[in-house]
Amino acid sequence: MSERPEDLPEDSRFAVLASGSGSNLQALLDAYPGHVAVVAGDKEDAFAFERARLAGVPVEHVNPIGFEDRKDFDRELADRIAAYDVALVVGAGYMRVLSAVFLERFPAVLNVHPSLLPEFKGLHAVRRALAVGVGQTGVTVHFMVEEVDAGPVVAREAVPVLPGDTEDTLLERLHPVEHRLLVGAVADYFTGRVMV
Ligand code: GAR
Repeated sequence: MSERPEDLPEDSRFAVLASGSGSNLQALLDAYPGHVAVVAGDKEDAFAFERARLAGVPVEHVNPIGFEDRKDFDRELADRIAAYDVALVVGAGYMRVLSAVFLERFPAVLNVHPSLLPEFKGLHAVRRALAVGVGQTGVTVHFMVEEVDAGPVVAREAVPVLPGDTEDTLLERLHPVEHRLLVGAVADYFTGRVMV
């Protein structure tokens, strides 16, 4: 990121949900050291957890196996995160759908998605954009609501699809945009420039 992120108000504390490699988490850890209160997720071996540990941030892993249904799992996940007293939860590559049981527990939940929503909602958004042959796709940061990838948009930026692009090459260009928009959205939220 070329620009230095702005400082958050001192008492801003947020949680990050991640299931994967955690490059978006890393952008948040780098931009806002001391403000990420906990990293939580469903995948014990997610590299995101390793990034959290390296940054000295607590990790809460909740194994979906053993829960009756999604609501029970979400209630446990929410309980674990709520113990850290956060004002915001950020979905950064969290690959499970969150139910109202979770969403209602926090003042706001942000999410980053690799498409220009409402196009290509759901999983494999980049792969599907390439399969359709669009000339551009992009990144959206939005507040999460119960309907998947349908909440109010906080930031959105187009990224062109180039001839010969594969999922990997396109993702490589989408990632820096995701990181910049997500870091900006967290500042927008804590400074009151956006509200749910
Ligand atoms: C990101 O591309 C993010 O937009 C996507 O998962 C990736 C996680 O990367 N999220 C979704 O598709 C949510 N539906 P990361 O683990 O390197 O941050």
